[in-house]
Amino acid sequence: MLRSALSIGLVSATVLLGGVTLTASASAAPAPPAAGPGKPTPYPADSLRALGDRVGLRIGTAVNMDELGTNAEYTKITAEQFSSVTAENVMKWQLVEPTRGTYDWAAADELVAFAKKNKQLVRGHTLVWHSQLPTWLSSDGYTTTLSNSELKALLKKHVQDQVKHFKGDIWQWDVVNEAFDDEGKPRETVWYKAWGGLGYIADAFRWAREADPKALLFYNDYNLEFTGPKSNAVYDFVKTLQAQRVPIDGVGFQGHLATQYGFPDLQNNLQRFADLGLKVAETEVDVRTFTEPAPNVNTPTSPLAPYAQESYWSRALKACLAVPECISFTPWGFGDTYSWIPGWFTNPQEGAALLYDADLKPKSQYYVIQQDLALAAGAPRRAPGGPGRP
Ligand code: XIL
Repeated sequence: MLRSALSIGLVSATVLLGGVTLTASASAAPAPPAAGPGKPTPYPADSLRALGDRVGLRIGTAVNMDELGTNAEYTKITAEQFSSVTAENVMKWQLVEPTRGTYDWAAADELVAFAKKNKQLVRGHTLVWHSQLPTWLSSDGYTTTLSNSELKALLKKHVQDQVKHFKGDIWQWDVVNEAFDDEGKPRETVWYKAWGGLGYIADAFRWAREADPKALLFYNDYNLEFTGPKSNAVYDFVKTLQAQRVPIDGVGFQGHLATQYGFPDLQNNLQRFADLGLKVAETEVDVRTFTEPAPNVNTPTSPLAPYAQESYWSRALKACLAVPECISFTPWGFGDTYSWIPGWFTNPQEGAALLYDADLKPKSQYYVIQQDLALAAGAPRRAPGGPGRP
């Protein structure tokens, strides 16, 4: 199996790896992008997606639908570099049903069409969450004016309608997102309160399975990367779901990493969930670091930060490569300008978390990931040489 060829820690200065010449891939493909119908954008042999294909790993990205189809460079990179896409926002409840009873699938449908055209698989994100709910439902995810019975009927209809709408088009659904807090306690969201416990999760997975039997159904959360109260609680909870024959196929590790914390025992955690008979995936990877105040929120305060970031990116990818059940590796976007980090982590300021800079040029972190993938595919020895040979 190709994955076993992974050489952890191997460093090479050669430019020819696995028969692929590594270059700045952004400049390699001649075809202009197009978001509409038509031919797929060809992708270079040293793109992340092509290298991922060689080891059976989908390389994904979150997609910002304000840019796709309007920003030519952004659109080109999305098509060329990634074999899976996730809607960064447009499949969230707030966006698909801003007014009660009226769906707006336009942006999400556009992403699905783009993915089909470019032979990409789609991660559906996300059906059940306490965040980014429409204001008519709840403004904070924890309080609402709606009754418990209304909430129960609404969640059922939401899961059924959305999964049916995209039936056949979604590879992995994040059915439930972030149901536990950092102490490993269930979040007491509107859903938790309506059900009087975590029963909403089993129901949501069952409704999703019924609506699209072929989609892989995931529980998705952050900080599962670290062994600790949260990861342990989710691990135990997933086992109870399995004992009740709830149709769960996988667990998504968001992977929002930061250089201020030590690198997590990610591979162990991926492996122990995989050992339950589940698929796993890294679903929202970014590696933030301390940065200058606005307007330079993507300039690290330390010139050494990029070295730490390279190491975190590399280890995050290798953890997935080393666990055969890890089926996709998805950074949460690809240009620092479009990252959610600088807007979210402001005190102190953090940023510079992605593989491409604010000008959509690949950063050193990109080349590390590219090289790791090429090495994982099995770098051939250099042409035979030595004594006695020309
Ligand atoms: C973030 C988006 O990137 C932002 O654009 C949005 O304003 C807030 O949500 N965990 C998740 C993602 O599961 O949906 C979040 O995405 C980041 C944290």
